Amino acid sequence: MVTKDFTVLVTGGAGYIGSHAVLALLDSGYDVVVLDNLTTGFLRAVPDQAIFIEGDIEDSTLSARLIAEHGIGAIMHFAGSIIVPESVENPLKYYHNNSAKSRTLIETAVTNGVKHFIFSSTATVYGVTGLMQIPEDTPKHPTNPYGMSKLMTEAMLTDVATAYDFNFCALRYFNVAGADPKGRSGQSTQGATHLIKVAVEAVLGKRDGVAIFGTDYDTHDGTGTRDYIHVSDLVAAHVLALEKLVEDPETSHIMNCGYGQGFSVNDVLDAVDRVTNKKIHRVIQGRRAGDPDSLVSDNRLIKQTLPWQPKYADLDVIVAHALAWERKL
Ligand code: UD1
Repeated sequence: MVTKDFTVLVTGGAGYIGSHAVLALLDSGYDVVVLDNLTTGFLRAVPDQAIFIEGDIEDSTLSARLIAEHGIGAIMHFAGSIIVPESVENPLKYYHNNSAKSRTLIETAVTNGVKHFIFSSTATVYGVTGLMQIPEDTPKHPTNPYGMSKLMTEAMLTDVATAYDFNFCALRYFNVAGADPKGRSGQSTQGATHLIKVAVEAVLGKRDGVAIFGTDYDTHDGTGTRDYIHVSDLVAAHVLALEKLVEDPETSHIMNCGYGQGFSVNDVLDAVDRVTNKKIHRVIQGRRAGDPDSLVSDNRLIKQTLPWQPKYADLDVIVAHALAWERKL
């Protein structure tokens, strides 16, 4: 039986995935403190029931004070930088925001008695594998500093969990999309590059159409294939992971978080056409640098480890929720 006698600190809780995690924690009965520096997040994304603190995870005095004042027993760490091409141009920003600041936060957790830590990692840690489905023990060869910065944090957590009374779960996200089914949050990022976000913007006339980046990939229709996961299913896995960490404090986990099913760019655009009953304007372009043919999770480990039962593993539902949010923006 899980006790909720501690509060959860959510870093990056004003961002896309973080704000959904806050909702899931509140819905599960947890008290939540959000720490966000609002460089990319939005204050309006933080629900009123959560305590909001504007600040940076680098400020260990602030984090230590929050831990003591609010009885923080676990940290969900979403704060970080996430744009792959930017990480290639400015790697030190990524090693600072994602690796160095995470080190500071982990140290603050350990020295102030926080025993559980959930980390938002990424499938980008694998790089190009050539596998149909990627299991967690696949050799990691990230092809950009973003992926490496996340992998470094996984390594720090692994070593810290060995040395201290502390456990963690790192979830390697595949392609997160969609929005809260109750319309309470969604992806608000300006100038988004993610396919589903781009497609629903096009449907609403915010763009002329959607560029298809390459039709010569080694996939069923030549367009890039990804494992799209609904953000609400993703954050549900975080709440279950937290419960697992509390139940079994000796064990840490690094797990893929995806449905294990691949959809091509054309599959996604077909879904958008179905959901909207329109024909989205598709423009075929060349490949985008660095895009692998296919990235699909092997999700057996998370399914064995957590009682995780995705509710929205349907591309049309993901698109419909993304569209509903986009309309509200
Ligand atoms: C991106 C990030 C990755 C992150 C993941 C989940 C990049 C390069 N990668 O993955 O680090 O973990 O999101 O958040 O930023 N596509 C088009 N037209 C478009 C946009 C995309 O054809 O306008 C194609 C891409 O070539 C790819 C697929 O759609 O095949 C998905 O692209 P995208 O949504 O950008 O996500 P990823 O690049 O897979």
